[in-house]
Amino acid sequence: MPVFSEALGRIKASPTVAITAEAQRLRAEGHDILSLSVGEPDFDTPRHIRDAAKAAIDRGETRYTPPDGLPELKRAVAAKFRRENGLDVGPEHVIVSTGGKQVLFNALLATLDPGDEVLIPAPYWVSYPDIALFAGARPVIIPTSASDGFKLRPEALAEAITPRTRWLILNSPGNPSGAGYSETELRALADVLLAHRHVWILADDIYEHLAYAPFRFATIAGVEPELASRTLTLNGVSKGYAMTGWRIGYGAAPEPLVRAMTKLQGQSTTSACTISQWAAVAALEGPQDHLVSFRNAFVRRRDLVVERLNAIPGIVCPRPEGAFYVYPDIAGVIGRRTPEGVEIRSDEDFVRALLAAKGVAVVHGAAFGLSPHFRISYAAADEVLGEACDRIADFCSTLR
Ligand SMILES: Cc1ncc(COP(=O)(O)O)c(C=O)c1O
Repeated sequence: MPVFSEALGRIKASPTVAITAEAQRLRAEGHDILSLSVGEPDFDTPRHIRDAAKAAIDRGETRYTPPDGLPELKRAVAAKFRRENGLDVGPEHVIVSTGGKQVLFNALLATLDPGDEVLIPAPYWVSYPDIALFAGARPVIIPTSASDGFKLRPEALAEAITPRTRWLILNSPGNPSGAGYSETELRALADVLLAHRHVWILADDIYEHLAYAPFRFATIAGVEPELASRTLTLNGVSKGYAMTGWRIGYGAAPEPLVRAMTKLQGQSTTSACTISQWAAVAALEGPQDHLVSFRNAFVRRRDLVVERLNAIPGIVCPRPEGAFYVYPDIAGVIGRRTPEGVEIRSDEDFVRALLAAKGVAVVHGAAFGLSPHFRISYAAADEVLGEACDRIADFCSTLR
């Protein structure tokens, strides 16, 4: 048995990956399983992007790139941040990594020491607290509520800041709630942050392109340019271009942070996949028409799921502004029992019993730091979503 590090002992395996693996196991055993637990679009990567990757292979673009990214992609990313987000950045402010997740990992590992604090509004993406813990820091979870749209209030932010606060992580539209911060809401948070010059902001905008009217996406360094000198704006092609498996994410930040992250990346993955980087150039510089059909499909599915879930007694499902998740409240079923007599004491009990009884895989709210809820990823065919909602309704109707 190898001896494992203390750092490894501080983190847990991803709960979303665990549920998905359990669903796959049950399916392999022959059970009829509907899996709504995975966080990725169900669409194919647009053809012109796939063609660009094939052309890169045929041109022999199969060697390492500089650790901070292919110059052509860094230029395309800087142009994207200027064009779409109004950020004043050049290629020297950009790092390209193996997914947005590596941008986050680099940034936290490069800046945190034991005792440092990272502010994370809940519900949060499962990786934020664990990466902070791995870096030796203390995640400080700030709960939000459905009545605040699952968004951090400026007063709660001001209260949570201490001299040890190093980062605030803001994710909009957010995973798992789908909540999006409006420009006005970001303005109010920016006013608090302006008064605390030691706090850096990590704006995780990975779902930027999956924002649904009338909500309009905004990012904090665009809303308050004075914060750009201590903001890392994270983005990538995974969600908006259906490219999760290509593993390309990027960030824009002040040069010293980009250099520090590059140093770390040069000692871990060297550089992101060269072929995928050429595909990402095509994604950012090519036609964006696919976004209209992605958004239309997601809005239709969101509305279907929200309506169907709200018709179930005991479930209350807010209508999110973006991403492809809903995060219904199940306080109304906590304390009830299944026909077999199992008491549903928590959202984890709920999702386990639902999977066992009806074969629907969703993720419990405790995994995202806010209970009692569960997360459905509606990046699935309409028929699958309709059938899953029928089964959830059936399951709830059996609870006493
Ligand atoms: C909120 C959030 N940020 C970042 C990521 C990272 O995505 P990737 O590493 O594929 O770019 C994800 C993926 O699930 C996410 O949900």
